[in-house]
Amino acid sequence: MTTLAILTAAGSGSRLGRDLPKALVELDGFPLVLHAARRLAASGVVDSIVVTAPDGLVGVMADLMAGDPHVGIPVRVTDGGPTRQASVAAGLALARPEDDVVLVHDAARPLVPPELVQRVVSAVRSGHGAVVPGLPVTDTVKQVRPDGDAELVTGTPDRSMLRAVQTPQGFARDLLVRAHHTGAERAAAEHLAATDDAGLVEALGEPVHIVPGDAAAFKITTERDLWLASLVLQETTA
Ligand code: CTP
Ligand code: MG
Repeated sequence: MTTLAILTAAGSGSRLGRDLPKALVELDGFPLVLHAARRLAASGVVDSIVVTAPDGLVGVMADLMAGDPHVGIPVRVTDGGPTRQASVAAGLALARPEDDVVLVHDAARPLVPPELVQRVVSAVRSGHGAVVPGLPVTDTVKQVRPDGDAELVTGTPDRSMLRAVQTPQGFARDLLVRAHHTGAERAAAEHLAATDDAGLVEALGEPVHIVPGDAAAFKITTERDLWLASLVLQETTA
């Protein structure tokens, strides 16, 4: 039985605001998507990768992966969709029968430690159908609703019970397939916030477990994040 990683890289990176998709923006001379693929492969627990590419860039992505000596596991590239969820579904459609575990990882998290990938996969292989890395929330979080020209606070959730979740998220393949069909329908019908794959599993009413996340797996959204990532790399390679 094998583990497939879907590496979502089809987004435009509008908040980064470069003239190329975020996954192709370079960090230390290499595109973000390549950093992420190398780290998934370095975990030793991922057997193959499917990359979801932005419109018209399947060939560019495929050349990038094929030309890299550090990835070293089979990589297929497919067209992504208009939303992240559609991109994951496109990647999932390429899962093979032997891929009993599927990871979903964002190219926007290029510095994911291989140990985190191992932690997620072993939690799935130990019997949890859906596993998400999460970190304690350090800020106090307020719930709000619109109120004229400002927002009114409607509550303060207990911070000790909140987790900021990351990728890779890991799933038993069959559960993720059901989540992307029935779970997605339910989430849409019930207006549930299913902004990640685990959210679709939650919409099915199936359990999702958290394993400890890692600060290094932070997501690159803005220029400042990219700058932070380059500092982290300098520190870890010094
Ligand atoms: N993604 C994708 N397909 C989409 C949208 C997003 O594969 N249609 C991927 C992105 O490439 C990224 C991950 O999902 O690796 C997380 O999305 P996000 O950080 O929001 O990236 P972008 O959508 O590219 O950025 P922005 O929202 O700023 O435009
Ligand atoms: Mg986005």
